[in-house]
Amino acid sequence: MNRQLENSTAAAIAALVLAVCLFTGPGTALAQGDGDRFKVIGPTKCAECHKAETEVWKGTTHHALFTDLTRSKEANQIAERMGMRRIKSESLCLDCHFTTVATEGGGREAIAGVSCESCHGPASVWQPIHSGFSGKKEGQETPAEIATRWEKSEAAGMIRPKDMYRWAKNCFSCHVVPQEKLVNTGGHRAGSPFELVAWSQGEVRHNLWYNKGAINEPASRETKRLMFVVGRAVELETSLRAVGKATERAGYAVAMAKRAQAARQAVDALYGYLKIDELKQISTAANSAGLKLNNEAALSAAADEVGAVTRKIVEKYDGSTFGAIDGVLPPESAYKGKPAR
Ligand code: HEC
Ligand code: HEC
Ligand code: HEC
Ligand code: HEC
Repeated sequence: MNRQLENSTAAAIAALVLAVCLFTGPGTALAQGDGDRFKVIGPTKCAECHKAETEVWKGTTHHALFTDLTRSKEANQIAERMGMRRIKSESLCLDCHFTTVATEGGGREAIAGVSCESCHGPASVWQPIHSGFSGKKEGQETPAEIATRWEKSEAAGMIRPKDMYRWAKNCFSCHVVPQEKLVNTGGHRAGSPFELVAWSQGEVRHNLWYNKGAINEPASRETKRLMFVVGRAVELETSLRAVGKATERAGYAVAMAKRAQAARQAVDALYGYLKIDELKQISTAANSAGLKLNNEAALSAAADEVGAVTRKIVEKYDGSTFGAIDGVLPPESAYKGKPAR
């Protein structure tokens, strides 16, 4: 990945045209962004039923962030350059580094680091539905009732494991940082070198529920293949949107253009292995918009198309026919951390 990024630097920088424009302000759509309609209930509530998953989460960087970030010198320097006083009460850092609840004064307060609802969605409405067995005892619902229960949960903002496109998109909404000023003025890095398999199958993995905590089951080979493809496509979608936010020729624009260029190449490489039409469509859409400053409308439209096709991939394939990419999947040694159990 890193080498690919470097190789494409020259091309990406050449693609950036010079323009002067004012910073247009932040604005990301995170799971927490649903907070207007749905409220956060906090990880302590989830832990009442999901003990094993909570134990794993407590061993992650996501959990540690709550205490680490405010003590970090780097964090305080970024905040100072951004003209902020308190990291835990200013919305700019909250969306990505914490789980927050509304305060009486109309503000927001951090109650945990990146936690259950940062990834599964604010749960005030969906939590009682998802675990309510349609008002019956476990095992006594009809198949139609089960299906309705999950539909209602999703309509109430739940992000389910099954919906790989949605949860992957949510990871990327934090791991690519689409705030030009935060990067250029604040000195925040532009994002993580995020790859879906390696980043989800290490310390983050908590597949313990449906086998009653017996083992923390790694994703199957088929699922990993699908994750790899979906991860590449969502990387492309997210980085196109991020380039769309670029208004000045500086570090942010260069980093995001490099990222998008590398993501285009990665999708083309996958097409070479898999020869599925959807990847061709993604590539065509992604190449329809120039990686240049002040090009948000065209880049967003391209990103929307990439997203729509990626959703189709998740609906249509299960990875069983993607064996041709086994050689490019990250090895276990590349996974980020190890789960606590
Ligand atoms: C009262 C107990 C209870 C609480 C509290 C609870 N859950 Fe669950 N959860 C369940 C049950 C029961 C299931 C499985 C339902 C089934 O088998 O159909 C489940 C399933 C899940 C699943 C898997 C869904 C799927 O698509 O298969 C996720 C994710 C989940 N819960 C997350 C959470 C989160 C996050 C919280 C806190 C916001 C939470 N749960 C709070 C009982 C609970
Ligand atoms: C769009 C999401 C996003 C926003 C907004 C954001 N961050 Fe971050 N931040 C991240 C991610 C993702 C990382 C991890 C990057 C990596 O993988 O190296 C990170 C890393 C950091 C680090 C380095 C931490 C370490 O242990 O390596 C600091 C410090 C930091 N952020 C501070 C802040 C501050 C202060 C703010 C608010 C002014 C802020 N961030 C806003 C997503 C964000
Ligand atoms: C960083 C994002 C993230 C966080 C934080 C997170 N989850 Fe998950 N969770 C996921 C993803 C992604 C999956 C699906 C993984 C897969 O399919 O391999 C999942 C799967 C699950 C499942 C289904 C497990 C199974 O056996 O299939 C449950 C239940 C669950 N999470 C509950 C929780 C609870 C409770 C918390 C907080 C203690 C939590 N999650 C925190 C992202 C997250
Ligand atoms: C609400 C924002 C947010 C979401 C959603 C999110 N993350 Fe993170 N994640 C962060 C931040 C911020 C860090 C920060 C790091 C630090 O202090 O270095 C991080 C760190 C990590 C780390 C540790 C990285 C390391 O260097 O060891 C892993 C692994 C990770 N995230 C995976 C995931 C996966 C997989 C998903 C989706 C299933 C996800 N994250 C969703 C914000 C988020």
